[in-house]
Amino acid sequence: MTSLKGKTVLLTGASRGLGVYIARTLAKEKATVVSVSRSKSGLDQTSDEIKIVGGKGISIPFDITNVTEFSTLVHQINKLVGPVDILINNAAIIISRTFVDYSLEEIQSVVTTNLLAPMELTRLLLPSMLERGTGHIVNIASLGGKKGVAYNSIYSASKAGLIMWSDAVREELAGTGVNLSTICPGYVSRAGMTVDSDLTIPKFAGISIPTDVANAVIKAIKQNQAEVIVNGGLLNESMTKLLLAIGQIYPPFVNTIYRLIGIEKVNSRRRENLDIGINLGYAEIPRK
Ligand SMILES: NC(=O)c1ccc[n+]([C@@H]2O[C@H](COP(=O)([O-])OP(=O)(O)OC[C@H]3O[C@@H](n4cnc5c(N)ncnc54)[C@H](OP(=O)(O)O)[C@@H]3O)[C@@H](O)[C@H]2O)c1
Repeated sequence: MTSLKGKTVLLTGASRGLGVYIARTLAKEKATVVSVSRSKSGLDQTSDEIKIVGGKGISIPFDITNVTEFSTLVHQINKLVGPVDILINNAAIIISRTFVDYSLEEIQSVVTTNLLAPMELTRLLLPSMLERGTGHIVNIASLGGKKGVAYNSIYSASKAGLIMWSDAVREELAGTGVNLSTICPGYVSRAGMTVDSDLTIPKFAGISIPTDVANAVIKAIKQNQAEVIVNGGLLNESMTKLLLAIGQIYPPFVNTIYRLIGIEKVNSRRRENLDIGINLGYAEIPRK
């Protein structure tokens, strides 16, 4: 898909964080953006921003953990703007704890939001894309899904699942005209779940800005890229891939590097912040 002009894009997680930047970038590309999230006020602000850049869009407040209601959502979108050309599974939550401290409810909410919902939404939208012989699915995963991260085991597992499921479905879709890209950001500054957790990111962990992620999404669609790592600094895409490749051969090496860089410490801090009420993950967090 070389142009997004006139395409209908369903974007989950559009009420705050990186989703707002992705929505704005899509609007600049002249796509029609269907924004989905729980917070109506957040979605209204995103709609205003889409209008400011001259874009078109509608917003639908919806809780994506209600996976059995997705067919109603899809029906509603079809009626309002027609079939979806591009699905961007961006919504996710993070709840940081030592593994034994998670409740079953927390595990279920992370896995449902981050993995089951993207799967089910894709399953419902694919038939129409396949029938038309065109479409693109973008799954926003995380570097946390490429390498297990201490105190984020459920988030890591959900994102690793998203990456592997995407990889398998991409193979199935080969030659159909429908494509699938996975975006794996590292830490992102300025907006989003890292900022909301009030963390100081270690210098050598690498960091990107929300527009890097938004631009990576557009590029992945236009160039049909399979998997993209978005990270700045020393651990840029090539260095991260090299580190991960070494980790496939000798995992303890990467664990040592992660500890030396301070990634384990950051996530330990995220867990402590959660305990004192900073970033409840699934709570409504006001836009900064
Ligand atoms: N920020 C980072 O540093 C970073 C790094 C790597 C990967 N990522 C990935 O990038 C994506 C966006 O993250 P972010 O930083 O923008 O997170 P965020 O600021 O926490 O925003 C998450 C978005 O998901 C929506 N959402 C959460 N639960 C939902 C539910 N049950 N139903 C509908 N919408 C729901 C939220 O809206 P409501 O609360 O209004 O529902 C919000 O719009 C995620 O997939 C995340 O894993 C982020």
